[in-house]
Amino acid sequence: MTSIINVNLPQQSYEIAIAPGSLEQLGQRMADLKLGKKVLLVSNPTIFKHYGEKTINSLESAGFTVASYCLPAGERYKTLNSIQKLYDVALENRLERSSTMVALGGGVIGDMTGFAAATWLRGINVVQVPTTLLAMVDSAIGGKTGVNHPQGKNLIGAFHQPRLVLVDPEVLKTLPMREFRAGMAEVIKYGVIWDAELFAQMEASKHLNQLRYIKPELINTILTRSCQAKADVVSKDEKEGGLRAILNYGHTIGHAVESLTGYRLVNHGEAVAIGMVAAGQIAVELGMWQQQDTERQNALIQKAGLPTKLPEGLDIEGIIDALQLDKKVKNGKVRFILPTQMGVVTITDEVPADIIRQVLQNMY
Ligand code: NAD
Ligand code: GLY
Repeated sequence: MTSIINVNLPQQSYEIAIAPGSLEQLGQRMADLKLGKKVLLVSNPTIFKHYGEKTINSLESAGFTVASYCLPAGERYKTLNSIQKLYDVALENRLERSSTMVALGGGVIGDMTGFAAATWLRGINVVQVPTTLLAMVDSAIGGKTGVNHPQGKNLIGAFHQPRLVLVDPEVLKTLPMREFRAGMAEVIKYGVIWDAELFAQMEASKHLNQLRYIKPELINTILTRSCQAKADVVSKDEKEGGLRAILNYGHTIGHAVESLTGYRLVNHGEAVAIGMVAAGQIAVELGMWQQQDTERQNALIQKAGLPTKLPEGLDIEGIIDALQLDKKVKNGKVRFILPTQMGVVTITDEVPADIIRQVLQNMY
């Protein structure tokens, strides 16, 4: 059975289609949207080796002409240089205004393909086929696209919504365990910020840290409820005028930890997990959240195999300084997303630096 979730937007609404084996339906779903015949499939060599042929077969069977291009794998290739390569391939293959770029990959491929599609001929169609848990529940939805600047992550970008997001949970079987856990951090985030029922269902599961130990029904719940949460938020606030900022729960301190560890030692999901632990405790210290709820959150993070402590040797003043460089800083004030009850958060820029220091000191 396919779960369909709608992202309702003033300009162009779209569907997130979730079903095991749905990769085979990609071509037909795109044909139903009456997209032009030319497709540029963008992936990386690892992902293409697993799913490239199946994707191309599905597209060609539905009448599309497909060119494909693999960018090298890794965050360090999320650059304007890679976008230039995509423009070259788009030109070689004469991509037109009606053509479509299909992103087959995790958030790195999704963000870059989205950005290339946003800017080629001032904007062509993009379809997102996420292959990591993180991309399925977060980055493939909502239209944030872009690349990194040498001085900072995601500093160059555009909003460009996909025409379709197709989620096939079968592809998670080849995803490395650490990447699966990184995605779980974002899923736990949705439980804390938006969906207490999702949180409770994950709490009730014996296992959460490896795909093969999690019941398929729970995987389905995780995907559908997380995608629904993201769709709800984006539908209410497409360009992050207000509400959408709640999706950055755990990301304020998380981004600082990620950048101070050189984006290598700690991956994005792990950094978000650490950031959620910190934000939860800050909320408790400010009298906004119950101690027992922060303990429930931290227990779930641990059950998902994610860290709850700061990496050794990370300097607290370094973290405090790094917070000032965050994209979320407004008029020099650091913005935090803090929980007030399970499934509900508030946005504040009134967190005293001493509280942040005290909380971080207790996280070694
Ligand atoms: P990723 O794209 O780097 O993928 C992680 C690794 O998994 C890669 O090595 C990839 O080759 C491999 N991989 C992917 N799918 C696989 C599969 N099915 N089988 C085997 N291997 C597979 O990492 P990610 O966590 O998906 O994305 C992180 C990126 O997403 C960051 O650049 C971040 O900035 C971005 N992001 C964007 C948004 C947004 O709203 N646009 C939101 C969150 C994160
Ligand atoms: N991942 C945060 C956002 O999409 O707004």
